[in-house]
Amino acid sequence: GLMRELKGIDVMELELKHQLGIKKVIIVPGDSDESPLVKGELGRACALCMKKLLSGKNIIAVTGGSTMAAVAERLSTNHHHEELLFVPARGGVGEDVANQANTICSNMAKNTDSKHRVLYVPDQVSSEIYESFIKEPDIHEVLNLIQSASMVIHGIGDAITMAERRKSNPEIKQKLESGKAVGEAFGYYFNEEGEIVHKVLTIGLQLEDLAHIPNVIAVAGGASKAKAIKAYLKKAPSSTILITDEGVAKRLLKG
Ligand code: BG6
Repeated sequence: GLMRELKGIDVMELELKHQLGIKKVIIVPGDSDESPLVKGELGRACALCMKKLLSGKNIIAVTGGSTMAAVAERLSTNHHHEELLFVPARGGVGEDVANQANTICSNMAKNTDSKHRVLYVPDQVSSEIYESFIKEPDIHEVLNLIQSASMVIHGIGDAITMAERRKSNPEIKQKLESGKAVGEAFGYYFNEEGEIVHKVLTIGLQLEDLAHIPNVIAVAGGASKAKAIKAYLKKAPSSTILITDEGVAKRLLKG
């Protein structure tokens, strides 16, 4: 019955937390690969988790992706008068508009009656342009806000899926293939050992910055992302909270 299933999930959450060596694991029933409704549930679980952690003034750094878009949809006005400011975690990493962190931050702000900032940085700029970009006062200000974030919420992707979505050039795809990249987060690509195989050059949050951010929430589901999630979490700070689904949990606990 339902109780047994709930208990099953409780046990899986603890087992997975120990296996991955992170702070907390929250599992929603189902598999996002099989039903879009499950992605909505991931969004809902993340919104709930954020609500529990947030109080007072908060800067929240957010990545792109369809999972973060689902989180945005599930956020609602807070009645505790927290002061929230949503900022994109990193500059342009080549997503469609709906999946861009700028768009998602704007939706999150709209749904919570709060504020957001944008970070417009094109992909693959020359290092000269890159250097002058970060000196722009507007951009500089957003970069400072990112550095003082008290929370980061982010997606995790399958490496090849992300390289394709970003229309990465053949050389990069070759690099990912020969480096056996399986996972991606924040524009960094990881192999199964959690080593960085490739990194998209952009401004904003760098992987090492996560260590200084009190609340880090990773949201990713669908059995096809199991390897990617495991790989990234080898590198991730142990303070990470993972919100995932049964599809991922079952696969990781089996292997
Ligand atoms: C991208 C992020 O926008 O979304 C990636 O830049 C992340 O770091 C990806 O891996 C996840 O996308 P989705 O659609 O699977 O949630």
